[in-house]
Formats: sequence, structure tokens, C-alpha cells
Amino acid sequence: MPIAPLTFPSATALDATDPLAAFRQEFHIPAGPDGRPCAYFCGNSLGLQPTSAAAAVAQELADWARLGVEGHFHGTSPWLHYHETLAEPTARLVGARSLEVVVMNSLTVNLHLLLVSFYRPTATRYKILLEGGAFPSDQYALESQARLHGLDPADALVELLPRPGEHTLRTEDIEARIAELGDSLATVLIGGVNYYTGQAFDMAAIARAGHAAGALVGFDLAHAAGNLPLHLHDWDVDFACWCSYKYLNSGPGGPAGVFVHERFAHRPDLLRLAGWWGHDPADRFQMKKGFRPMPGAAGWQLSNAPILPMAVHRASLALVDRAGGMAALRRKSEQLTAYLEHLIQGLDLPPDVLEIITPADPAQRGCQLSVLVHRRGRALFDHLAAQSVVADWREPNVIRLAPVPLYNSFADVARAGAALAQWVTE
Ligand SMILES: Cc1ncc(COP(=O)(O)O)c(C=O)c1O
Repeated sequence: MPIAPLTFPSATALDATDPLAAFRQEFHIPAGPDGRPCAYFCGNSLGLQPTSAAAAVAQELADWARLGVEGHFHGTSPWLHYHETLAEPTARLVGARSLEVVVMNSLTVNLHLLLVSFYRPTATRYKILLEGGAFPSDQYALESQARLHGLDPADALVELLPRPGEHTLRTEDIEARIAELGDSLATVLIGGVNYYTGQAFDMAAIARAGHAAGALVGFDLAHAAGNLPLHLHDWDVDFACWCSYKYLNSGPGGPAGVFVHERFAHRPDLLRLAGWWGHDPADRFQMKKGFRPMPGAAGWQLSNAPILPMAVHRASLALVDRAGGMAALRRKSEQLTAYLEHLIQGLDLPPDVLEIITPADPAQRGCQLSVLVHRRGRALFDHLAAQSVVADWREPNVIRLAPVPLYNSFADVARAGAALAQWVTE
């Protein structure tokens, strides 16, 4: 039976009943070329600046000016323990125990650090499974990890590809590929949400299948953290990493997050690259030889924490909590994305002109819709930009639009819909 199309009240009515509407005021919305605040759909690339960010950084600058090195011990939030204050909100964000998470470094750096521990190929079990068309940095990281072990990436890396004529992967195909690789599979590393198609994967099912094959399973959550409710502990994921500058609004190059499942928390024997910040804090300052890792994800830290960007991240995480956490954000997110989808479908264009390649099933996507434009895609993108609708363009022909629940309104989505409709009629 065909699914009845969703119907929506007006954007004004939707905004009037949106319990999160007030959070828009907590962000700086850039002006577009027409002078109006833009309709910003690029939170999947760089989230907007929370208005609380400047004060959070100013606080740390003031402590530094007033206290110098003593800020480590006597700052408003002593820097020595600053990163520890991020553990609880981060654990809530990704569905983890606080022991399982740490904020440090940046995403690709963390991916490497995790692969050092969780990609330990042997002569027979050495394959890495990733999604075809994974974000290039992930591909490069995995290729170089294979080479680090003396392996040929062309042999070690196995890519998952959609069936002919399809744009996204089916869970049963991922499971089947994992089973087929069996004893040869060392590690699975997939984006929780694919950056290009916007497809969200069934991480619990992938973790189950990977473990059944005797492999370790990790996720790059760059496009999932702050976008979808995550339950990394319960899903039994082994390791994961993410950035904070997209849906977590923590600024360009902001500090990144790491998850390591509790079962590895007390495994000082696990090979890793070490630094003093991951060392047992009881004698970290005694400057002794012999690395003894802290329990949990914190034991993968290398360097002392960058307080200024962490201050922005802490302010951003506080907004997520104040909004009611990921469950509340997701409720609005599903509505925003469904509304955008409804307006795009209302253009009534044949799929050889324009098609949404993101799955229609809300369980298989976050907020992003990826629109494949077969003809004059770049012209459409430029048209949207001229209307102060900020999307992003991914070669060769995809426009990504990501309405986010913290600062996008239904009126923003209606503006995108109107700009698309105008392009169609021109
Ligand atoms: C899926 C994914 N992986 C990796 C990266 C690279 O992140 P970074 O430059 O923070 O290491 C990005 C950046 O957008 C990404 O989207």
C-alpha cells in the first residue's frame, strides 16, 4: 500500500508550537547577500556560533591574565581538570558511561590513535571494512594504517558498495559482507551517518555482525554526534570518534571526542601511543619513566587540554543539555527534515532532474537531505545562495541541506522550499 504523503500546517504554525524555538536566539545567524539573516543549512559542515561562546572564552582569558600558570589550579574552572568537566555531558550525548569518553585532539588524529589500538592485523585477519565513498580523510587514515603494518591498502581495505541502481547501503548487505569476510576481517570502520548521502547506519546491527565475525567495530560519528541520539555503550560499539564543529557548534577545528567501550577500560596492556595526559594523574607530575594509562578513554590522551576551544565546546554542550538532550532535539529534527522533504517532493520533478538520495525512512537518516541534481546543479546551488539559503555543494552533483533543531526554524525550511520552487519555474 502506498504511504500517504505527510501534510503540514504552515511554517508559522509549526514555529509557534516548536518547544525549541527560543534556542535560535542563542546563536549568531550570519546575514546573507540580501541582508536578511540567512537560512543556514550548513550545520553538517560548520555549526553556528552560540552567543555564550564569547563569554566562555573571555572567562578563561581573564583567568589567564589574572593568574598566569596558577590558572591550572585556581582558575574559575581549574585547567588541570577542565577536560574532566566535559565527560558527563559528552557521555549523555553519545550514550556512554563517563569513563568511556574523552574530549581531545581533532577527529582524524583520534581516528589514528584508536586504530593503533583497534586495528591489530595478523597474517590472516587483516581486512578493514569501510563504506565505499567514505570521507577522504577516513580513507587516507585507513590506507596509511594498512601501510604502517606493511600491508597493501588495495588488499587490506574492503569497500561496501550499494546495489546497482541504488544510492545507499542495505543493512542486510553489510551484515552479509561482514559474515563473508569472516576470519579475515580485523576491523570495521564506518561513518555513523555517511557525509555524502546522509544515510544513518544501524550501528547496533553492524557491531553485532562484526563481533560475530571476531572483528572490532568502530564508527566515525562526525555526522552523527549531535545529530542523532546515540547509544554507543548499549550498542556494544568498540570505539568511536567524532568532531565538534558540525552539529556540536564548537567552532572551526574544535576539540574532538572519543569513545572506547568499558570492556577496554582496564586494559593497560592494549597497545597505544602514549603521552603524559593519559598517564595516571596520581604521579603524572613526578616525571617518572614508565607509562601507566588512566582507566577508560582518558588513557588515550596525549597532551594537556586546549582550554580556549574547550570553553566553547563546554558552552555548546550545555546548550544541548538545556534543550533537553538528544531526544528532544531529534523530535524537532525529524519534523524539520520531513517538512523539507515534503517541500522538495512538492516540486514534482522527475528523478532524472532532481532526486533525494538520502533514505526516506527517518530511522535511516539524521537531519541532512542530499539532493542529487542531474542538470544545472551548480546553478541551483548558486540560486539558493543568492536567496540567502546556505546549503553546501559536494562534487560532482549533490546539494546537501541540513536543517538543525537548535537554530533552524520551519520558516527557514519554507524559505528553502520557496527558493527551490522559484528556480523550477524560472
Ligand atoms: C566523516 C568525516 N571524517 C573525517 C573528517 C575530517 O575531520 P578533521 O579535519 O577534523 O580531522 C570529516 C570532516 O568534515 C568528516 O566529515
